Amino acid sequence: MASSAGNKGIRLDSSKSRLKWIVLIFSVSISIGSIYYTNLLVQKLKEREKQQIELFAKTLEYTINEETGSNIYFITDKILIENKSIPTILTNDSGVIIDYRNIDIDSATMPLNAINRRLEQALSDMRATYDPIPVTVKDLTGEEIIYGYVNYNNSFLLSQLAYYPYIQLSVIAIFGIIAYIAFDYSKAAEQNRVWVGLAKETAHQLGTPISSLMAWVEFLREDPDFNNKQIIEELDKDVHRLQLITERFSSIGSIPVLNMTNINDLVRKTMTYLRPRISSKVEVNIHTLGDNITANVNAPLFEWVLENLCKNAVDAMEGVGTININILHGSDRQVFIDVSDNGKGLSKSKANQVFVPGFTTKKRGWGLGLTLAKRIIETYHKGKIFVKNSEENAGTTFRISLPAGRH
Ligand SMILES: Nc1ncnc2c1ncn2[C@@H]1O[C@H](COP(=O)(O)OP(=O)(O)OP(=O)(O)O)[C@@H](O)[C@H]1O
Ligand SMILES: [Mg+2]
Repeated sequence: MASSAGNKGIRLDSSKSRLKWIVLIFSVSISIGSIYYTNLLVQKLKEREKQQIELFAKTLEYTINEETGSNIYFITDKILIENKSIPTILTNDSGVIIDYRNIDIDSATMPLNAINRRLEQALSDMRATYDPIPVTVKDLTGEEIIYGYVNYNNSFLLSQLAYYPYIQLSVIAIFGIIAYIAFDYSKAAEQNRVWVGLAKETAHQLGTPISSLMAWVEFLREDPDFNNKQIIEELDKDVHRLQLITERFSSIGSIPVLNMTNINDLVRKTMTYLRPRISSKVEVNIHTLGDNITANVNAPLFEWVLENLCKNAVDAMEGVGTININILHGSDRQVFIDVSDNGKGLSKSKANQVFVPGFTTKKRGWGLGLTLAKRIIETYHKGKIFVKNSEENAGTTFRISLPAGRH
């Protein structure tokens, strides 16, 4: 039954990642669709502007043939066809600029050479984008000669439209990322509240019966009629164990106090406590590279982490094997505590999931031991805990990395 809880954990996680994929595919399709559709509109508009300019050029041609000597752009604009959006430059047959329209030039304020520079620039841009349309006239003999060229470029609207989907999608993407981060943050904050609340409540609830038990132990100790000392010792041990559990829950339910601690001593102390509680067929070795390895830790919580790692190691070895604990300096700023076993190991996909709440492969597991360890190390100690390496049927090493204490 309990193992199905673990499966549920895996399924929950995979359905979450499937949802992520669906959202991703959906957004990519929307983006592609919107860019494609806008491009289609841009092409249509381009076609229409081209037709408009061709018509404009034809009208010019007609006007020139009919009305020699007048301001032909003016006539064309005002009488025959109006062009208020497409930038155009009319040049003569040798490329000298005769007139222009819809180019961002304020002839009243701009000096002449600045106007010329801008016009030259606009002209070369136009030539690079579209072929100039020749405007022909009939000379006196009736033969067609080139009068000049109409150069043109995309209207402001058209160039804006081409960029539009990219701007729109970037804005949506930025909004989406911010929303995702905010959502993630509020989810983490909510989880935090649940953890802290539950831990505090547990510590609080345990407090009363433990005080009462302690009083009973004292009562029995003082009672001259009760002379079975061994029972008192065992009871006392259990009460202390319960006190330790309460202390752990109360530490996790508040901001735990970190003290500069010698890690070697702390690991040894924890293992001395654990030794009689795990199978005698498991050998425990502690190796340390340096006597003075210190870090800021909360002892009850750190012991809890080590206990969880060792219990998992014992389970993985099915009660027979060796646990090696290596304590070393990663760098000046880091302390590593590696816990290795020679148990059944983890496949790649399992190794990626061991810290997911509820992931377990055990009949009676809750899949919370490593989740708790991760929380203690990462949230309260600003360290890291991860599977350093694992090989199926050979063993696993978990690494805890903590910020080193300063000497
Ligand atoms: N040293 C290890 N070797 C092999 N597998 C491991 C090891 N440590 C953890 N695992 C795998 O990771 C799973 C999750 O471990 P975790 O401690 O979070 O939960 P659990 O031990 O199953 O249950 P509990 O909540 O009682 O600790 C385990 O069920 C096991 O499959
Ligand atoms: Mg466990």
